[in-house]
Amino acid sequence: MTPVRNEFPDSFAWGVSTAALQTEGAWNLDGKSPSVWDTFSTRKGKIHRGQHPKVACDFYNRYEDDVELLRILGIPNFRFSIAWSRVLPNGTGRINDKGMDFYKSLVDKLLENEIAPWPTLYHWDLPQLLEDKGGWTNRDILHWFEDFANTVGLSLGNRGIQNWMVLNEPMVFTGAGYFLGYHAPGKRGFANFIPAMLHAALCTRIGEEVLRSHQSEITIGSTYSCSYITPKTIREKDLIAAKRADALLNRLFVEPAVGLGFPLEDLPMLRPVEKWMKQGDDARLKANLDFIGVQNYTREVAEACWYVPYLKARLVNAKKRGVPHTEMQWEIYPEALYEMLVQFGRYQPDKPVIVTENGAAFPDVYDGSDAVQDPLRVQYLQKHIAQVSRAIKDGVPVSGYFVWTLMDNFEWAEGYRPRFGLIYNDFDTQKRIIKDSGRWYSDFLSGTDSGDLSSRAVLMDSSAK
Ligand code: FCB
Repeated sequence: MTPVRNEFPDSFAWGVSTAALQTEGAWNLDGKSPSVWDTFSTRKGKIHRGQHPKVACDFYNRYEDDVELLRILGIPNFRFSIAWSRVLPNGTGRINDKGMDFYKSLVDKLLENEIAPWPTLYHWDLPQLLEDKGGWTNRDILHWFEDFANTVGLSLGNRGIQNWMVLNEPMVFTGAGYFLGYHAPGKRGFANFIPAMLHAALCTRIGEEVLRSHQSEITIGSTYSCSYITPKTIREKDLIAAKRADALLNRLFVEPAVGLGFPLEDLPMLRPVEKWMKQGDDARLKANLDFIGVQNYTREVAEACWYVPYLKARLVNAKKRGVPHTEMQWEIYPEALYEMLVQFGRYQPDKPVIVTENGAAFPDVYDGSDAVQDPLRVQYLQKHIAQVSRAIKDGVPVSGYFVWTLMDNFEWAEGYRPRFGLIYNDFDTQKRIIKDSGRWYSDFLSGTDSGDLSSRAVLMDSSAK
């Protein structure tokens, strides 16, 4: 099933997504202070092979060349995030002008090249100084976040940005960071997770309102991780397990944002959140989102499991199930994207959903030539984009699709091993080589998808400059 560009409306937003921590590097340059990931990565055994994001793709220094690559590829929309500790090194208060200048220049450069900037306020890199005060578990984060949003809105609000996102995947940064402890800041347990969950949910509206106060006529969304969940068998207990996993992984944050509150009926173990809530929080959880960002990579199969505390459910991994999977061990199951678009499309039927992330990691190999062959990623993208088209035909108001990601980068606890990029990055030299998938996407976008990947060889050696 190969998708065709002209099945999609002209106004459809095609793009690529990135994040500050994963690409920028320059971790302590020009006044930036450490984020939780800068410190977490110094802790033993936390990141694959002890790797760290200090340099990453060096995007901070090389953004002009990378924007040039976007232009060459004809990618009209670019999603990135703002590193909080770059613009507010103390977490609040004094603006670091040099740090903010970077984002101003990036936005200007994108617009000069007719590429629309899509900033996300927060993509997981909390200033360490704020974490030292409890981070997302401290209710003061509502003020800290307001200050951050305000600072960004004041500085970037008048530069021609049309689309903003508030948070990236609150379920992941609170779940992995404050419950399971395998992401920064490495905290565990309900005592951390529940307040972090509440405060992250409340910040959606804060970010949305503050950004809107600086700029009218903009669209503001927020992004949500989701996996299509199916039960392992049709036995009652597996059906219940799947329902609970869906409530936790897919519904927990988007439902309060659209005014439905936390799905506590299906997740009774989260009821203690009520003790953390202050008067008026119920109403404050609802944001006024112009679009919902859906971030889907896979499906999960759930089964009942008596020894998993509270949830009584577990996910059976793709390798165990013997199904095709990516380097992340995520099942390749394109229909998952369709199902999630249908599910998330129901929340606000009169407003769009946008696929703000979708993509795959495969063990790409660079042999020193000017090409990297990644047929599995080309297929992955084709099949997933075809599912977007199917969702639109079935009436889901999908208005954009962003590939994760522009170039191979720092994949959190997995370090530099999983390569998700349309562009290969040689981390020793910072040489960028456009993969076949990048050329395919480019051809697809220009409507010249001829299948001939050798016709538009482009090699960019930014390290040689
Ligand atoms: C998402 C994250 C993104 C990237 C992809 C692979 O959960 O938002 O930063 O790591 O997964």
